[in-house]
Amino acid sequence: MGYNCTFKDCLERSERVTWRIEDVIGGEKRLDFTRPFMPESLARVQGLNFLTEHEKMLLNQIRGHTYLRIFGLVEEFILPFVLDHTRVNLEGEDYRTRAYLEFAGEEAKHIQLFRRFAEEFTSGFGTPCEIIGPPEAVAKHVLGHHPLSVALVILHIEWMTQRHFIDSVKDDGRLDPCFKSMLKNHWMEEMQHAQLDAMMVESIANTMTRAELEAAIDGYWSIGGFLDEGLKQQTLFDLAAVETAAKRTLTAAERQQFMDVQQQANRWTYLGSGMSHPKFIEAMGSLSMDRQRDLMQAIPQFS
Ligand SMILES: [Fe+2]
Ligand SMILES: [Fe+2]
Repeated sequence: MGYNCTFKDCLERSERVTWRIEDVIGGEKRLDFTRPFMPESLARVQGLNFLTEHEKMLLNQIRGHTYLRIFGLVEEFILPFVLDHTRVNLEGEDYRTRAYLEFAGEEAKHIQLFRRFAEEFTSGFGTPCEIIGPPEAVAKHVLGHHPLSVALVILHIEWMTQRHFIDSVKDDGRLDPCFKSMLKNHWMEEMQHAQLDAMMVESIANTMTRAELEAAIDGYWSIGGFLDEGLKQQTLFDLAAVETAAKRTLTAAERQQFMDVQQQANRWTYLGSGMSHPKFIEAMGSLSMDRQRDLMQAIPQFS
């Protein structure tokens, strides 16, 4: 299939997927604080035996809030990046321009969607939960890297939203329906983004020398390391939020166990689940078989 056909196809599919934020949250559709928000495969709260069932629920919901804010954070660098890529490629293929503008428009909507959910959480949860950031500083740092490094990170994020959606379906019946529908609706649009972003990766890589390519893949890893550091800090924030919400202080040993389990859970949620996605592995392989091998060796660390 020619590129223009793929762009046309992507555009048509994204035009068929239409939902408004009001369809997902607001009015009757509210977060149900008697239910977990995050699939257990991502939350990993059940093994923390020093927490009561109620406290495990609180932690799951805190992790759900973190999810909303972390996505809000990453969407803040995805939007300008996609707009910049669209701006320099206005000539030629009409469907390409329209497909990328649709992509950007949807990400702007996602920023609002996550913000709307976060407001709903704040008004219903009752305990303030701190978040890493600010988003502008994260965006500035990430966007300082080579466009191919950023496009790879975005591709990773897009495939990872599919994993999150699939895991939420597996947890069927338990999860809050509103949070679950957010994961589903988000993925329905990310599916088109993943395809467009894969073409973006390819078109950027086509103009690069082998040495530039290697450096850009290093950039992907360095952004990953930066996010990993942020997630460590976020795990400390989540620990503080659980203690405040549960109105008790954990022992040093419990805190240590919390950090070990939850830091790894965050790693899997935002790093491992993207880098181990077969489509992401395939995209890395199309750039370099050696680097694909490195990727596969690194995955267990983030699982
Ligand atoms: Fe998004
Ligand atoms: Fe996206």
